[in-house]
Amino acid sequence: MHSIESIPENEYFKAEAHLYRYIYSHINGTVLKCAVQLDIPDIIHNHGQPITIPQLISKLEVHPTKTACVERLVRFLVHNGFLLETKVINEEEEENEAYTLTPPSKLLVKGMEPNLAPMVGLVETGFMAALDFLGSWFKGNNKTIAEIAFGVGMWEMLEHDPLRLKSFNEAMASDSQMITMVLKDFKSIFKGLESIVDVGGGTGTTCRIICEAYPNLKCIVFDLSQFDYILSFVGGSMFESIPFADVVLLKWILHNWDDESSMKILNNCKEAITKKGKGGKVIIIDAVIKEKEDDDGMTQVKLLFDISMMSTLNGKERTEKEWKKLLEAAGFKHYKITPLFGFRSIIEAYP
Ligand SMILES: C[S@@+](CC[C@H](N)C(=O)[O-])C[C@H]1O[C@@H](n2cnc3c(N)ncnc32)[C@H](O)[C@@H]1O
Repeated sequence: MHSIESIPENEYFKAEAHLYRYIYSHINGTVLKCAVQLDIPDIIHNHGQPITIPQLISKLEVHPTKTACVERLVRFLVHNGFLLETKVINEEEEENEAYTLTPPSKLLVKGMEPNLAPMVGLVETGFMAALDFLGSWFKGNNKTIAEIAFGVGMWEMLEHDPLRLKSFNEAMASDSQMITMVLKDFKSIFKGLESIVDVGGGTGTTCRIICEAYPNLKCIVFDLSQFDYILSFVGGSMFESIPFADVVLLKWILHNWDDESSMKILNNCKEAITKKGKGGKVIIIDAVIKEKEDDDGMTQVKLLFDISMMSTLNGKERTEKEWKKLLEAAGFKHYKITPLFGFRSIIEAYP
C-alpha cells in the first residue's frame, strides 16, 4: 500500500475528523428530533428560569436507567447551539450549571408562533431516509429518489399516505408561520392589490396570515388536494391552469421543479395575472444561491436543500443567473430580488 503523499502528515488526522463529522452528521437531525420528542424545549420554556439537570430529569419521562444519559444529551445540545449553559445558586448557596433555550431551540417550543417543531418531525421519516438511494439515483435513469424509494412521485405518494401528508403539511405550515412573520409587514409588496392566488398553497397557512394582515385582499389557495379551509380553495394542477388574480404567490414551489416544468408553471402564472387586464406580478419565495456573498452556514443550508430537491424531485435551488435565465425564458421582463428571510428571498417577477 502507498501512502497518500499529497496530504501533509499533520493534516491526516484533521482530514479524518472532517470525514467523521460528515459520516455521523445525520445524528444532528436525529438528536434534534429526540429533543422534540422528549419535549425538552417545552419543559425548559415552561420552567421559566434556567433548568438544572436534576430538575430536567425530574420532568422528563425517561427510563430510570437512562437518566445519566440526559447529561450527555444536554452537553451535545449545548455544543451545537441549542442550549445555553449558565450558573444558578441553590438554597444551600451552591453554584450549579443550568440551561436555557437559545434562539434555534426557542423555535421548537410547541404552541408558540412560529414553531418549527413539525419540520423536525420530517427528520428520518421516509422523506429523508429516501436519500439513502442517492448513489443509485446518480447511476440510474431519470427516476427521482421518491420514485425509487416509494415507487411513485412525491406528490402522488403523499396523496395516498394520509399520515405522511399530515406531517408534511404540518411542516410546510410551520415554515409559513416563519415566512409570513416578515411577509405581512412587507406592505409595499401588497400595495394596491385586490386578489392573490397562492399556488401550491398547501393547508393555506400563508394565505391565512396574509388575509389577516390585509383584510381587503381576496385570497385563493390553489393546490392538488383540498384541506379544511376557512379561505376559498380551488383544486387543480398548476400545469393545467391557474385561477386569475392580481398576484400569483409561489412559495417554495419552483425549487421543487426542473427548468422545463418551472417554465410551464410560470407561463400559466403569466396567463393568470394578465387575463385580469392589469399587469400583475408573480411573487416567488425561494432561495437564491450566493456562495460569494453568503456566510458558510447560509450557503450550507441552500446547498443541502439543493441536493435534496435535485434527487427527491428533480428540482433545484438556483443562483441569480439561473433565476434570471428562467424568468426571461418564461417571458418575464423585469424582476426584483429582496433577500428577506434568512436563506430565502422574495423575487417579484413582472411580465
Ligand atoms: C413544498 S410544498 C409548498 C407548500 C406551500 N407553498 C408552503 O410553502 O408551505 C409544494 C406544494 O405544491 C403542491 N403541488 C404539487 N404539485 C402540484 C400541482 N401540479 N398543482 C398544484 N399544486 C401542486 C403540493 O401539494 C404542495 O402543497
